[in-house]
Amino acid sequence: MRLRYLVFWLPILATSFLLSAQTTLRQAADQRRLLIGSAAQAGEYGGLNLLTDTQYATTLASHFNMLEGENAMKWGPIHPSATSYNFTGADRLAAFAREQKMKLRGHTLLWHQSNPTWLTDQAKTATPQAMAATLKGHIDTLVGRYKGQIFAWDVVNEAVSDSATANGTLLRDSPWNNQPGIGLTGTAYIEQAFRWAHEADPDALLFYNDYNIEAPGGKFSAVLNMVRGLVARGVPIHGVGFQMHLTTSGYPNSAGLRENFQAIAALGLQIHITEMDVRLPVTNGVATEANLAIQAATYSRIVTICLQTPACTALQTWGFTDKYSWVPGFFTGFGAALPFDASYQPKPAVPAMLNTFQTIAPTLAANAIVNAASFKGGAVAPGELVTIFGANYGPATIVGAALDANGLVSSNLVGTRVLFDGVPAPLIYSLAGQVSAVVPYEVAGRQQTSVQYEFNGVQSAAVSMNVASTAPAIFAADSTGSGPGLILTPGYLVISDANPAPAGSVVIVLATGAGGVVGGARSGGIAQGIGQQTAAITATIGGWDADIAYAGPAPGLVNGVLQVNLTVPKGLIPGVYPVVLTVGGARTQDGISIAVR
Ligand code: G3I
Repeated sequence: MRLRYLVFWLPILATSFLLSAQTTLRQAADQRRLLIGSAAQAGEYGGLNLLTDTQYATTLASHFNMLEGENAMKWGPIHPSATSYNFTGADRLAAFAREQKMKLRGHTLLWHQSNPTWLTDQAKTATPQAMAATLKGHIDTLVGRYKGQIFAWDVVNEAVSDSATANGTLLRDSPWNNQPGIGLTGTAYIEQAFRWAHEADPDALLFYNDYNIEAPGGKFSAVLNMVRGLVARGVPIHGVGFQMHLTTSGYPNSAGLRENFQAIAALGLQIHITEMDVRLPVTNGVATEANLAIQAATYSRIVTICLQTPACTALQTWGFTDKYSWVPGFFTGFGAALPFDASYQPKPAVPAMLNTFQTIAPTLAANAIVNAASFKGGAVAPGELVTIFGANYGPATIVGAALDANGLVSSNLVGTRVLFDGVPAPLIYSLAGQVSAVVPYEVAGRQQTSVQYEFNGVQSAAVSMNVASTAPAIFAADSTGSGPGLILTPGYLVISDANPAPAGSVVIVLATGAGGVVGGARSGGIAQGIGQQTAAITATIGGWDADIAYAGPAPGLVNGVLQVNLTVPKGLIPGVYPVVLTVGGARTQDGISIAVR
């Protein structure tokens, strides 16, 4: 998602930011643009509404930016009779997420377990058509009610049997599949559920969720084959949930998990780790120090692999405190599976995950370094404003440009630096996952430049970019890279369809990538007056030559912004025309226009 920040318009603030020590998992994950979630209990099944427990609620909201009902949105609690729904628990979760500015996940629209008696009884006698109507009604009701509140659903949970093999999808028996099913064969019932969910909320991300798919093998291959088929048939599926219920066995092997993540990512799907816990042998609920250390290393290892997999966008634990965990009731002699103990104190897994968040190298890809005006990749030019996407470690909220003690645009924004051949670049803004910088003029004359991204001293790998003398592009008024250009009247009003430029009038076009300035320009300097670009510059509007009165640095803005004052060709009839600059023989991007009257 591109941020549309014309941030270089922001008043250049001479401010400095103190780096706050990251003390919560939420703060650390926010700096990684990663959703970190926990399952939560809100009084479903008639149990405790834990959200009213201050310690529970405070720990949940301070350490997590996402939550999901452990049970509240399953058929049993939410659809207790054929003619009634009980939204109490689910509504409590939605309200809590809203109040605490947390994302809300939905679990689960369709499962072979936790189905109410009325449904399992109905399934014994109902026709598939009746079951289909029941399922569609349930999906329409739930997804419709939480439309705009739940951003992602586990649409189908655990449909593939544990004995599944790679050459086919052996589906588990369930009321929805074949007992009696909804009148469809094979995975068609799964496809139908996704389509109904998408109709009910086209904006929600829809996931298939399962366990024991964290390593290569028959079940994962069956799931992969199934989701590959869904994707191929255009079924609205957006991701796969890996439950990640682990022990101290070392499963899953890191290489195998990476392989499985890559296979899912290759389908264009997201990965959510949905139910992570690491159960330990306990005596009276207490685990050994040695096993707590193994648990911490396991949480850290999975966080590492998720951070290093761009498609892995969420990591959720199945509860967060050992006080409320499904494990002891389902695995005799095991417990202590979660990051916080029964007194809500962080176990070794918490500092281990914090350390991982704060030390794993941010990713940097050459194709994610683009012109800040056109968002097109390729060679970079001295002074070019560029935007770097995907460097997944940075400020959780956007920080605008600042002047340093020498009056230059600072090349260190709250710990963010972008280095070109080791030279720190002036920064226009910084946000985890999207940073804008000015290519230092020092790269002029080189064939290539080595770019590194750094946050809080943690550096990405270096990527090599070709260097060109110019890489021109015109800023779009809405910062999308195309459409009406960022073109102003001499009085600095933005030209638009509502405020077209008269033919014959002078307009100001703002661009970047024009390369060097006669007499030199200082990287990060604020242009004090007019200057002259080294490269020759011409302009056309609607294909007609447009006379240029000035082409050079934009007074008052950072060196690297190109200002071109040109005259709209006389005789142009009212309309919208393409605007093109040619700078040192290179053209600006197609798709930038100007309204003329
Ligand atoms: O506490 C009530 C009790 O008051 C009531 O009388 C009784 C009636 O059945 O229900 C009790 O609630 C239990 C509930 O957990 C709260 O602890 C339910 O019986 C029990 O079925 C339920 O188990 C849940 C299980 O899924 C089945 O729905 C676990 O909490 C939950 O952690 C577990 O989660 C699943 C995921 O949804 C899917 N992946 C596997 C994961 C672990 O099994």
